[in-house]
Amino acid sequence: MDIKQGIRRNFARRAASYDRHAGVQRRMARNLLARVQEALPPPPRILEIGCGTGYLTALLRQVYPRAQLVALDLDSALIDQARRRLGPDSLVSWLVADGEAFIRGGFDLIISNATFQWFTHPGAALESQAQALAPGGCLAFSTLGPRTFKELDASLVEAAQALNVPRMPEIPARSFNTLRKWESLLEQAGFSRVQSAREILEAHFPNVPEFLKALKALGATNPRPRAFSPRLLNALIRAYESRFRQNGSIPVTYEIIWTLARK
Ligand SMILES: C[S@@+](CC[C@H](N)C(=O)[O-])C[C@H]1O[C@@H](n2cnc3c(N)ncnc32)[C@H](O)[C@@H]1O
Repeated sequence: MDIKQGIRRNFARRAASYDRHAGVQRRMARNLLARVQEALPPPPRILEIGCGTGYLTALLRQVYPRAQLVALDLDSALIDQARRRLGPDSLVSWLVADGEAFIRGGFDLIISNATFQWFTHPGAALESQAQALAPGGCLAFSTLGPRTFKELDASLVEAAQALNVPRMPEIPARSFNTLRKWESLLEQAGFSRVQSAREILEAHFPNVPEFLKALKALGATNPRPRAFSPRLLNALIRAYESRFRQNGSIPVTYEIIWTLARK
């Protein structure tokens, strides 16, 4: 199975439980939209990439009730759920498609929340998005940076070393793009006036299994099949708890990146 199929399958399987665990993603979406509202006049034609269960899509409909909106996601189960959330709406079109592929265009705003970190060819994706924008159009996205889940990453390294695992496993977040990397990819893709910001957010969970359960419920797990053995997973949980537990909970870091770029 290729990585993209793994990403699609992970999110599709969790369509029903995603909303209960997506507090950080909702916060990212609200913040992204506030930045867009501050920077732009109401855009008449909007494309949303990776709409998932439709949280941002519904917000977009509220703040831009007259806009034509195309919402796409890799998976049809998510599109179905988003469609149910919004109800019948002649101004919204739903599309099961890969947001990295070429998209036919003329959009004034392309927006995406908590999705671009899963792109496998981000440079090419940004180039096709630049082509899909009308002159003067804006690409606005929030994504997660490589410091996301740094405690999980450090605990995995410690556990793998303790067990002498021959090939060091990695969590997907370690290879997420940095803010700098996104800025340079945007410039290479022909965007200008790039505005970006970064925030480190610390969430708390009662224990590591609860955190891992929430990741699974979100579909935000490793897209590679059987990434970690049960033995390694147990050692990881022990390492995380003993190294990071404080005041009755465990910390979980998110590195959030916001970007607005003009064509
Ligand atoms: C973390 S969820 C975010 C969903 C939604 N934007 C939100 O804020 O709740 C990531 C979504 O991106 C979708 N996705 C991942 N890669 C994608 C791609 N290449 N094209 C379109 N959607 C993609 C997944 O199917 C999933 O629905």
